Amino acid sequence: MAIQMPRGTQDILPGQSELWQYIENTARDICRRYQYKEIRTPIFEHTELFLRGVGDTTDIVQKEMYSFKDRGDRDITLRPEGTAAVVRSYIEHKMFGWPNQPVKLYYIGPMFRYERPQAGRFRQFVQFGIEALGSADPAIDAEVLALAMGIYKELGLKKLKLVINSLGDKESRTAHRNALIGHFEPRIGEFCEDCQKRLQKNPLRILDCKKDRDHELMKSSPSILDYLNEESKVYFDKVQQLLTDLGIDFVVDPTLVRGLDYYNHTAFEIMSDAEGFGAITTLCGGGRYNGLAEELGGPETPGIGFALSIERLIAALEAEKVELPIDRGIDCYLVSLGDAAKDYTVKLAYELRNAGFTVEKDYNDRKAKAQFKSADRLEAKYVAILGDDELSANKINVKNMETGEQKELDLATFVEEFKKIQD
Ligand code: HAM
Repeated sequence: MAIQMPRGTQDILPGQSELWQYIENTARDICRRYQYKEIRTPIFEHTELFLRGVGDTTDIVQKEMYSFKDRGDRDITLRPEGTAAVVRSYIEHKMFGWPNQPVKLYYIGPMFRYERPQAGRFRQFVQFGIEALGSADPAIDAEVLALAMGIYKELGLKKLKLVINSLGDKESRTAHRNALIGHFEPRIGEFCEDCQKRLQKNPLRILDCKKDRDHELMKSSPSILDYLNEESKVYFDKVQQLLTDLGIDFVVDPTLVRGLDYYNHTAFEIMSDAEGFGAITTLCGGGRYNGLAEELGGPETPGIGFALSIERLIAALEAEKVELPIDRGIDCYLVSLGDAAKDYTVKLAYELRNAGFTVEKDYNDRKAKAQFKSADRLEAKYVAILGDDELSANKINVKNMETGEQKELDLATFVEEFKKIQD
């Protein structure tokens, strides 16, 4: 039997890959305007990075990591996300000493999570993400949110919902944590085994539980917003005011808890509101993680970022029926009739391609009609027709496929002439 791809992965074939490139180019271009620079970190890291970074009570670490021992008996994990690795790299390369702070970085690459595959959920998926390290200015929060929304908007998506929350600083989180323990403890026996473990270790994770989400205590659980201290409240207000100034719509949802442990202050998600979009509507998630660098052995460094998957972005484009303006056509198709002419088109294709044109020709000795069909399929703007007779007369026929207009050009100066007829 033929071997198939592993469950939860996908092949991106020609036809689709142009879409991916268009999206990636759009993201790169926005990053250039916002001055985020690309960082490329390894696909695998020491497992400990994610235990300490993402948090050992999270689903990602508990259930979803692709971890293995390498031949040197080291514990290695295929990265489930990008933030921990970027912060590791920031510390390792002492980026905190770079003259321009915050250091603003972006990445595009595959991430791996052993999740139950379904529409919009893969085991290998591609995240585009950004991280800004070294500033605790709410203006950076607003910038990061604006950039995330900007990508979707520039690609033509309209049905988006930005949801934000504040998880507060350490003091606020401790107060909220104690309130959560007090709230759940008397009836924790009614919750799943995981939640029972979460109660003392990380009660915030209970709010994220998929099994117990309908329990009545969930709805009445203490809201983090009631436990924000003055400083956290002022910070959150400022972020909201800046977003309002930018005209970016958002809703505050105090039940928004993210699936990773490193967050504090601003946390957010962008959802698709499009009809017919699958059950998983979160397109993008992110937030502030001011304690993460210290947790990973670096100096105290504020940070904020987000990540989105290209897979879900494409699903949203499909749900909203957005057609991206991808130019799939080619500049010229070379039709040849006769052996000598066929050989000559090898040289012509070479010269035209060297001059920057996208060019295709026949390689399978097909009849003229079949070659014209190929030209149509490839959406050729021009078709150049060379027969053995034209070749001996040093001429070539060029047809503009849009207007139907035909021209006879000198073969010797064809590339130069072809450049001219473009304008
Ligand atoms: P996350 O919420 O785990 O956050 O993932 C971010 C985004 O990755 C999700 O909103 C979703 O678009 C996509 N995603 C996650 N899992 C899958 C999957 N199995 N299949 C397809 N897409 C998926 C993070 O990863 C954080 N590192 C984000 C961040 C950056 N926070 C601060 N900086």
